[in-house]
Amino acid sequence: MTFELKLFNSFGIKANAVSIHIARNIQSLHQQYINAKNKQLPILLLGYGSNVLFVDNFKGIVIINRIKGLKLSETNKFWHIHVYSGENWHKLIIKLLKKGIYGAENLAMIPGCVGSAPIQNIGAYGLELKDICEYVDIISLKTKEINRISASKCNFKYRDSIFKYRYKQTHAIISVGLIFSKIWSPKLSYDILKKFNPLTVTPQQIFKTICKIRKNKLPNPSVIGNAGSFFKNPIISIEQAQKIKQKYPNCPQYIQSNSKIKISAAWLIDQCGLKGFEFGGAAVYIKQSLILINKNNASWKDIINLAKILNKSVIARFNIFLEPEVRFIGKKGEINPMKYIS
Ligand code: FAD
Ligand code: EPU
Repeated sequence: MTFELKLFNSFGIKANAVSIHIARNIQSLHQQYINAKNKQLPILLLGYGSNVLFVDNFKGIVIINRIKGLKLSETNKFWHIHVYSGENWHKLIIKLLKKGIYGAENLAMIPGCVGSAPIQNIGAYGLELKDICEYVDIISLKTKEINRISASKCNFKYRDSIFKYRYKQTHAIISVGLIFSKIWSPKLSYDILKKFNPLTVTPQQIFKTICKIRKNKLPNPSVIGNAGSFFKNPIISIEQAQKIKQKYPNCPQYIQSNSKIKISAAWLIDQCGLKGFEFGGAAVYIKQSLILINKNNASWKDIINLAKILNKSVIARFNIFLEPEVRFIGKKGEINPMKYIS
């Protein structure tokens, strides 16, 4: 017997697993790990499945993390939030706003669990998780020992952290510590937020503006299957960026702290004439070319083939490789996407 994963991945891709379990506490998380070990099966921990693409049936046990809870403490200057990893990220932001704790509003409406947020250092509209993260607690699935990793040791970078490389299969993120200054200062660096006056803008205004833009620009996964940006925005050398700028003066480019340049992958895809392009049941979303959608019962092969076409076109025209942001899950767990889309 196998279990269907379609409802557990926001792409809505059909795939199955040996079994699926919901963990609502540490004991049940541990128990599922032991069950899998006894049966010599791999495990896959999922939050909302909003950043994964199944590229095969998963021959193991899927554990859906719903370990919830929140503790609040304060010092003179800061709020400290200790939140369990199965909480919903967006609902947490709403809760904090209601309590008068501000600073996470730019990350509104990012789907997924709190525990998944540090893994790719979620980011949007000028803010990244690393800017508000104090620590990440991980639990050893074998011994239940909990270890605290301070934010400075998480190696947070653009869509990257230590958790993408270490602790997989042996540990789970069990809780995250967030820190907010009691003196709120708005993050208005992103273009669409520059219209606000920093002296008068409220966190609620920023929250509402971001929710409105996201609702308008991004497909709602419960209506149109997707996993957000399929690729990362490539980070290239200044020389390469300048060459592109000379030929295409409108090319959106953003200087990074390491003197490299981030270039818009959506723009690169648009330049190849691929906005709205379809392959089988998969398509490039018409309002945002970085998002691949499950338009019509797409299979994982449709999504992979579409991604391959986009990548080949962008390489041919700009000599830039698009690295997937979405995590590819194969028979036994996460796999390297390169061999699928190069
Ligand atoms: P899942 O997809 O369930 O898991 C992702 C990976 O983390 C998997 O490899 C899984 O095994 C692992 N994992 C999950 N939980 C744990 C745990 N507790 N311990 C250890 N490993 C774990 N991302 C952004 O950064 N910015 C955006 O603006 C953004 N917008 C999006 C918009 C849409 C419409 C969608 C669909 C996605 C968007 N994303 C965005 C991507 C996604 O929301 C984030 O990556 C999110 O953090 C994924 O959370 P999840 O719980 O769904 O993770
Ligand atoms: N653009 C195009 N064509 C498009 C869309 C955008 O040319 O179809 C150009 C425009 O010039 C636009 C620029 O690209 O100004 C940037 O677009 P946008 O603001 O939509 O952001 P993005 O770079 O496409 C990134 C993140 C999103 C995040 C937004 C907002 C990555 C991979 N993606 O998208 O994160 O929400 O910025 O900060 O960095 C995700 O990670 O899943 C995700 C949705």
